[in-house]
Amino acid sequence: MSSIATSNDPTQAANNADPLRLIDVDHVRFCVGNAKQAAFFYAMTFGFQVTQYSDLTTGDRQMARYFLHQGNIRFILETPLQPDHPANTELQKYGDGIKDIAYTVHDAEKAYERALKNGAVSAHEPETFSDENGTVTTASIRTYGRAVHTFVSRTGDYSLRELKHGGLFLPGWKRMDFVLNQYNKDNPCGLRYVDHCVGNVEEGKMNHWVDWYENVLEFKMFKHFDDADISTEHSALMSKVMASGNNLIKMPINEPAEGKKKSQILEYLEWHSNTPGIQHLALRTDDELASVAELRRRGVDFLQLPDTYYEKVWDRVNTMLTDHGHNPVKEDHEAIKKLGILVDADDEGYLLQLFTKPLQDRPTLFFEIISRQGSQSFGKGNFKALFEALELEQERRGNL
Ligand code: FE2
Repeated sequence: MSSIATSNDPTQAANNADPLRLIDVDHVRFCVGNAKQAAFFYAMTFGFQVTQYSDLTTGDRQMARYFLHQGNIRFILETPLQPDHPANTELQKYGDGIKDIAYTVHDAEKAYERALKNGAVSAHEPETFSDENGTVTTASIRTYGRAVHTFVSRTGDYSLRELKHGGLFLPGWKRMDFVLNQYNKDNPCGLRYVDHCVGNVEEGKMNHWVDWYENVLEFKMFKHFDDADISTEHSALMSKVMASGNNLIKMPINEPAEGKKKSQILEYLEWHSNTPGIQHLALRTDDELASVAELRRRGVDFLQLPDTYYEKVWDRVNTMLTDHGHNPVKEDHEAIKKLGILVDADDEGYLLQLFTKPLQDRPTLFFEIISRQGSQSFGKGNFKALFEALELEQERRGNL
């Protein structure tokens, strides 16, 4: 921010900035049935640090909330405490899941006003939380289905910079010791930041939401988007990728397409009260093999691909790489197979990725663990193999 400041007045610099310029993914907020227990799950299986909370004991009589972090990934897990809290309706309808992808901006109120001017519907008017150490201003807009985007601007001890170095999430929150924090420091999972976040919307609605991200948040169609013709007999989905102006975050949007069998998108929607929502969050690591090995050791349930996948994959991927003047996949091919990791390549390089099974009882939200060596795409070469694996899972759930 200081690089664009022309005067000593930081407010002036913020005013001059594009109000919808996203500084970071401030946090991802999950609405869950029991935040205390969910915090334990994400700490144990994915290696998150649980460091702050806000609940009855801190004076919050509406919500219990926990702050988790790893690398530059920040989660808020929250559970309503009162029976008449509107979040109960969400839980009843959708089960546990992601409610909010929140963005840090220079000025949350200005970002919100601009988004409304661009056609957004308000979810929450601007609100400022403050104490003698600083302020946090939040304002939210509705995106597809039950999901929202909250704009967050921070000052003083609550600035993003402070938050990244152990500062409090919001005034009134308290720090906590958590039994697994030291264990997680000693046994890192290596997850660094949110690479992309995928939404499922109803059939025929993908282009509507593509336009929404273009108009309201001033996102662009990502240059490497997977075009509509990726849809195969097996995949039965269409997807377009929207990216923020500075490519900080990519938000692919899926819609179901006609297929021989019920697509995973349709299964999601049926178990999500026929309401669009966030399907998966892709978390980026620099070392896919080390991350997946550690996550497997901790009991993360990953999607299992048929062994036959590895009979064809090296030919496909390494041919693509050498044809475009890149080195072949450098990681040990046998180790990749042993860990069940997926590989894909495009003209810019390759990526390694793996998908978890659903993270809660309903077949809705899951995570992707991804690392990139040049490739900026999303693994469309794996779609067919993936869909076959997914259909097997759907069959086991009686949802095909
Ligand atoms: Fe993905």
